[in-house]
Amino acid sequence: MTTAQPSTAHADAAFDTSFKNLRVRRLAGRIGAEIHDLKLSGSLDEATFSELYAALLKHKVVFLRGQGHLDDAEHQAFGARFGKTVAHPTVPAREGTRIFELDASKGGGRADSWHTDVTFIDAFPKVSILRGVTIPAYGGDTVWASTVAAYEGLPEDLKRLAEGLWAVHSNDYDYAAQRTDIDPTRLAHHQKVFVSSVFEAEHPVVHVHPETGERALLLGHFIKRISGLTTAESARIFEILQNRVIRLENTVRWNWRQDDVAIWDNRATQHYAINDYGDQPRVVRRVTVEGEAAVSVDGRRSRTRTRPEAVNDEQIRQVIAQSA
Ligand SMILES: [Fe+2]
Repeated sequence: MTTAQPSTAHADAAFDTSFKNLRVRRLAGRIGAEIHDLKLSGSLDEATFSELYAALLKHKVVFLRGQGHLDDAEHQAFGARFGKTVAHPTVPAREGTRIFELDASKGGGRADSWHTDVTFIDAFPKVSILRGVTIPAYGGDTVWASTVAAYEGLPEDLKRLAEGLWAVHSNDYDYAAQRTDIDPTRLAHHQKVFVSSVFEAEHPVVHVHPETGERALLLGHFIKRISGLTTAESARIFEILQNRVIRLENTVRWNWRQDDVAIWDNRATQHYAINDYGDQPRVVRRVTVEGEAAVSVDGRRSRTRTRPEAVNDEQIRQVIAQSA
């Protein structure tokens, strides 16, 4: 007599066997996979890297445990395999690197609001690679949402409406709008550092992914308004569409351990760092890869409306020093 082993069968079904060199295990129905037994580095062989890239395009965000061998330099070298790595436009990078650090013990280190990274410029990043440096004992998970699944789930009439809309994204957005626990120090830090130079870009609300051809909603907290609508109208349309993005069915949640790496396709996702870890230390570091302007379904490209003449880390430090 044989004994059924449903747990093993279920575990096997979770693996995505379309990759030859990678062990890829799905984590949720519409987004997210963990890649097992892979050591990331700048010198990953081409066959493995191209499968990793394909897995990223397919699953939108991929996670790897146990990447403790990565230091800032190797993290950046790995990021460079995806394209040109870029520093944050307004937040100074870690000395001598292009790495963006989120440190919860410093003013601005909690990304607890739904967003796509850096959409206040026309050519916003294509990929972000986040490394867990110091992880709290409990809390501090991050959630990603598929903006492709959100678009695909819309009824046809709403798809048509969204496809015709454009929106203005700015780093000078309403920081307090989506947050329930506003710390005055964090708000001041946001004003002083993040908004030290104002950027504004206009993007289509639905864009066509340059590599997969999939259509995705391009929204998130940097949106200031929908072009051509009043603030009140913008807020209502935004809410209807944004609520589709963050439906739990479109999300995956990652419980961080130290030395984990998360890699996401910034053109097909939004994310939210859950702020439920109190005063525990939490430090994560991000390498960001340059992207290109988004393209609407009728072939028009995003445009930058406002951009400071020149921005570099030294100028930002001067602005901070003057206002400190
Ligand atoms: Fe982010």
